[in-house]
Order: sequence, then structure tokens, then C-alpha cells
Amino acid sequence: MAPWIRPSSISICSGVMVVFSCVLMVMLQAAVDAAIVEHTFHVGNLTVERLGQRQVITAVNGQFPGPKVEAREGDTIVVRVVNESPYNMSIHWHGVLQRLSAWADGPGMVTQCPILPGGASYVYRFNVTGQEGTLWWHAHVSFLRATVYGALLIRPRRGVPYPFPFPHAEHTLLLGEWWNKSLVDVERQAFLTGGQPANSVALTINGVMDPDHEVLRVSRGSTYLLRLINAALNYQLFFKVAAHKFTVVAVDACYTDPYHTDVIVIAPGQTVDALMHAGAGAAAAYYVAAQVYQSVANATYTATARAILRYTSTSSDDTITPAAPSMPAVNDSATAQRFYGSLTGLLRDGGKPTVPQRVDTRMLVTYGLAIAPCLPAQTLCNRTRGSLAASMNNVSFQLPQSISLLQASRTAAQVVYARDFPDRPPLIFDFTNASSVNTNMSLMLTSRETRVKLLRYKETVELVLQNTAVLGTENHPLHLHGFNFYVLAQGAGNFLHHHRHHKIKYNLFNPQQRNTIAVPAGGWAVIRFTADNPGVWLMHCHLEAHLPFGLAMAFEVQDGPTPDAMLPPPPNDYPPC
Ligand code: C2O
Repeated sequence: MAPWIRPSSISICSGVMVVFSCVLMVMLQAAVDAAIVEHTFHVGNLTVERLGQRQVITAVNGQFPGPKVEAREGDTIVVRVVNESPYNMSIHWHGVLQRLSAWADGPGMVTQCPILPGGASYVYRFNVTGQEGTLWWHAHVSFLRATVYGALLIRPRRGVPYPFPFPHAEHTLLLGEWWNKSLVDVERQAFLTGGQPANSVALTINGVMDPDHEVLRVSRGSTYLLRLINAALNYQLFFKVAAHKFTVVAVDACYTDPYHTDVIVIAPGQTVDALMHAGAGAAAAYYVAAQVYQSVANATYTATARAILRYTSTSSDDTITPAAPSMPAVNDSATAQRFYGSLTGLLRDGGKPTVPQRVDTRMLVTYGLAIAPCLPAQTLCNRTRGSLAASMNNVSFQLPQSISLLQASRTAAQVVYARDFPDRPPLIFDFTNASSVNTNMSLMLTSRETRVKLLRYKETVELVLQNTAVLGTENHPLHLHGFNFYVLAQGAGNFLHHHRHHKIKYNLFNPQQRNTIAVPAGGWAVIRFTADNPGVWLMHCHLEAHLPFGLAMAFEVQDGPTPDAMLPPPPNDYPPC
């Protein structure tokens, strides 16, 4: 019960004359409840030692992972980012809806130009109203998010309970990847050659890859809330704790029906909130493990990271090697899909479905890898073979160079993009038939363009996301900025084919909501959202390697009819282009 609803105040609120002032009191109290959470992020060089080697990384406030931002639902978050690093910088608040604050979303050249090196700064200001759970923040220029990331936790308002038993304590685990070289060089090399970037050399848990590192301390018999964040650049992960099971209660800061599992599957960009009961046998310690999940055929990278869960005040022998969880096979797509496909959304407010039941715009969006002509600047690119690329509806997304899309959308004079992103792929073919697709060069070729899909305010959109077999099928985690979407259905193969032969059942009752969906490799997913937030919103593959390849598109959502549905002008310190 909120603190202001006391019997005494209810009796004061009984007369008609005082109803207005009571409403005012309630509003004031809500305003008092909502706090301003302020941080300053100094982004700069940090020297750390990992794998016996000193390494200069880009980090926030000398911390890796970066500072945790903690707020309550309804709070306003204000972060001043000062760029003392040698590189262009911008920070994205992954999963924050940014209602009427698109200028603070962060993706470079989409909602802002970068904050320049040499001490330039920008204040990101946004509220976290109507959202609860685990989110995170990360750099959104080049590959710098490899080390520039941290947790963003939104707890319920004071006095508002979780929709699950209150945990004894909580632990945040950020899963990441480590390179023993500069990420700017890794990205540059991939660009020059037109190939895949170098793999990481290890996975990290809270920035560390040392298996003796303790990341969880628990007392026997208690239940903990684990907040898991996949901050890895390019790999989906299986997560387990030896001898322990989980109850998933939220993904991507959207509550789910409780889902019981001993393995969590999490794609880059996604988060999972899970309860874990500390009720294992008698040992003092157990291994926590994260391991790569690979949906690509014949993939060879199989990294695993381990860390320690330790029981407090245990009398048993501390020196024996902890038990390690048995992990799924690296290519165990069945386990991945069982997890991803089993989650349902938690209905609140009397169990009424919240999915928009009516659809204004339907789109079929194919996506996958592709080949594009080498650019002149790709000096190490094989010009007969071409450059590796990726596309959505055969458009390989190109960022504008001179001005951000959002700024351009608000300045009539600046034409740097077209509002003609297609609703359908240019050609209907047997999308997931690997043998026919990969013998047809014209299906592999794409071109680099900047095209967005224009949406009216409050238009409801249904997207069929269809992976193609061009250069091999793969489970791509597709992330939509600015919105949570409902996942109505997903499956293997060609959606159109499937649709023609079977009636595909959509969950229009309690679908899971997400901001990032790992669509089955060589399969499809149907998602739906309401475009109720004006701005320009990127949708892209959260495998960082695929962003410069062009596996992205953007939605431009128009202002609504009333001032409370219009994006205000940019703040005064908006980074100049
Ligand atoms: Cu977490 Cu556009 O990304």
C-alpha cells in the first residue's frame, strides 16, 4: 500500500469540496515519490590487467563494468556524459522507452551525433515511467560497447511490491566478451577487409574471466533475484549454476509468468530476471557458468566463463573443487528455442490482455547476411568476392554522415534518407532453402541505402521477421529501440510457406514482451507494437559485428496531434554535427 493511503487521509477526502484537493495531494505525492537520479559518466582510458596482459580499454569512471544506475519506476534519470576518451562516444539506454525524449536514446547518427573527444559532454535526461526490471546502458558507436557498459535497474515505486515473492537479496551479473586488443582496431580491420571481425578471446562475468572469482554469495535457504544482462558483442549464451534451478520472472524488463528452468538462454541485448533458491547440497561452493550458444552451422568458437557461487557460514570443506554445471552442446538450438519460445507475459490489472488486437500496418521483413561491392575505403577488400554485408528487405542500412536521422527528420532542409523502406522484400523466394538461395548470386547481392519506414502516431504495426539462408541461416537477436513489442508467434522455416499450409496460431492473450528477440535460425517471428512515441527508432541486429554490415532499419514515428504527443525540441547541449 502506498504510504499516503492512510485511513486518516481517506476520511479527510470524504467531502465533495475536498475531492479536488485530494486529487492534488495524490498528484503531489506522486511527484514527491518520483526522484531524480543523477550521475556523471567520465568516459576515458583505463588500464586493466586480464589474462596476464595489460590492456588499455575505454571505460566509464575508471570502472569496468561501468557504474550501476539504480532508479525506481517513475524516476527521472539524468546522466552527464563527459567524453575524455580518444574516440567519438554516445551512450544508449538499452530498453528505456524514451517517451518524448528520443534525443536521449543515444545511437550514433540515429538520434544524435557523437560526443566528441577532448572533454565534450552531453546530458541524457529521460524518465523511466511504466517500466520495471533489469535494463542496461552501453556505448552505441563502433565496437566500444565491449567495455563501455553497465546495469540500469528500475525497481518498483516505494511501497509497490514485485509480482513475485520478495527476494532475500539480489545480484546483477553482466556477461561480456574480452579482446586482448583495441576494439577500434578490431572494427577497423573488419571494415578494411570486408570480412568478419576477430573473435573475442574469452567470456567475462562482471568483467572477470578468472574461474576463482566469487560473483555470488548466498546463505542457505534464501532466495535471490539474479539480474542477468548479456553485454557480449557477438554471442548468445547459455547460463547455468551447478545444482541450482531458476524461476524466470522477467525478460527485457517485462514481467513474465514464472518459468522454471535449470538453464537460461540470453542473447546480446537481452536481460533475464530469475529467482534462484540457495538450497543445494552441502558443498561450500558451486560454479556459475556462461557458455557460447552458436546457431551457425560448423561454428568453432565455444568459449565458456566460470565464476564461483559461495555459501556463507558453511562448515564443509572449502578447498574441494566446486561442481561445474553440465552445459548444453554449443549448437543446442533445441534448448535455446525451448527457453525463448516458452515464455509468456504476466497479465496484471485483472488479467486483461494488453496486446493491440487491431493492426494498421503489416510488414514482412527478410534479413540475413549478404554481399555488397567493396567501398573505395575498404582497401583490403577482395574486389571480385565483394564485402560481407547484411540487409533487411535487401536494404543494407547505411548511417548518414553529416547529421543524425532524428535531427534530419525535424529539419526540412536536410534530406539524408528516404522514407521508403519497403513493407515486403523486393522478391519472394524460398527464403530458407539454403541450396537454392546460395547458388543464386542475385539473391546474395545488396546495396547500401538509408531508408526508413514512416509511421503515423499510434499506428499499430505487425512485423513478420524472416531469416534467410543467404550465406547461412543464423539466430540474430533483433532489437527495437523506443518500444517493447509483443512476440505473437515464432517458428522454423519459411513463414509464408508455413502460413499457407497451416493456420499459424498467434498468442493474442499473454505473449511475452521484449525489446530484443532472438529469432530462430532459418525461422521467423511475428511481433506487434504500437508506434506511440515520436522519434526515429533503430531496429537492428544486436550482434555488434552485423551493425556495420547493415543489418538494421529505422522507424520514423510522427508527432501526435496534441502537445503531450509531440517530441519537444532537442536540449541546448545536443551534440553538434
Ligand atoms: Cu543495445 Cu541499438 O542497442
